[in-house]
Amino acid sequence: MPPAKNDYVSDVWKDGIFNDRVVFCTGGAGTICSAQVRALVHLGANACIVGRNPSKTTNMAQDISTARKGSKVLGIGNVDVRKYADLEAAVERCARELGGVDYVIAGAAGNFLAPISQLSPNAMKSVIDIDILGSYNTLKATLPHLLRSVSSSSTSAPTSTTSSTYVPPAPTGRIIFISATIHYTTLPFQSHVSVAKAGVDAMSASTAIEYGPRGLTSNVIAPGPIGGTEGMERLSRKEDMERSMKGMPLGRWGKVKEIADATVYLFSDTGDYVNGTVVVVDGGAWRVSGGS
Ligand code: HXC
Repeated sequence: MPPAKNDYVSDVWKDGIFNDRVVFCTGGAGTICSAQVRALVHLGANACIVGRNPSKTTNMAQDISTARKGSKVLGIGNVDVRKYADLEAAVERCARELGGVDYVIAGAAGNFLAPISQLSPNAMKSVIDIDILGSYNTLKATLPHLLRSVSSSSTSAPTSTTSSTYVPPAPTGRIIFISATIHYTTLPFQSHVSVAKAGVDAMSASTAIEYGPRGLTSNVIAPGPIGGTEGMERLSRKEDMERSMKGMPLGRWGKVKEIADATVYLFSDTGDYVNGTVVVVDGGAWRVSGGS
């Protein structure tokens, strides 16, 4: 059963703020990215999520579409972010069927636990390719659409609203890269991911200063330990989690909704002047020893 609204986005946001906008998301069938997209769809957006697994991706798209009656959510499988041609084709289909791309979430990631000595060169390369090259490919394939969106959003009014109250369209041409905090604190058996996420942070910063002058913003969301995610359930060792919980300043894991709220903040006009930064959503964990 699809989650209740309160599970994936806070009530503080106004319905319709993303009316007539389109979000393109890689890794969109994952727990965190699907919550981000669900929140945006609830608030008016249409969406395209892509992933490697066709049934997982299309089923998730169908599930997300229930967040708002009349929404359009495309799920495109067999997309490997390491292959530029896959992404280019998916982005073109998104633009053709949904009318453009206004927001991007580069969320696809690869991960497993392995000590440095047991990583093969290909294992290291696989994670770097998914995280860094995949994020770059996502940026490159969507950039022309994002720039088009920036120029049209400054001149156009929304063509429809879902409520009787007029809601101005959110400013557009925005990208969020999903990173992590483990390259601040380090975690055993995660060297490959630490290296890759540091690269993702750097890519966002470069995008922010190169394309800020054209009206496009680029930021990173760095989730900390978020309950119910693959990162916590498959990829965290019990001893690291227990140690981390003891040091958590807020004394609890985060919720996917808290990542979705950060996404709405950055994509809506509340994020207008936020560019080239990392929004860490981790309850302060990375500041203390043992936080993940
Ligand atoms: C050592 C491993 C390994 C392991 C794979 N490899 N798993 N090495 N320990 N547990 C090696 C393989 O032996 C191979 O090297 C190389 O990695 C590539 O593996 P393949 O299976 O051929 O690659 P591929 O099918 O492309 O899979 C990519 C993957 C996989 C990254 C290895 O785990 C994956 O697709 N994951 C996607 C989903 C995912 O991980 N999501 C997590 C997101 S959560 P050789 O030398 O044998 O060829 C997240 C949270 C971040 O990112 C924050 C964490 C705290």
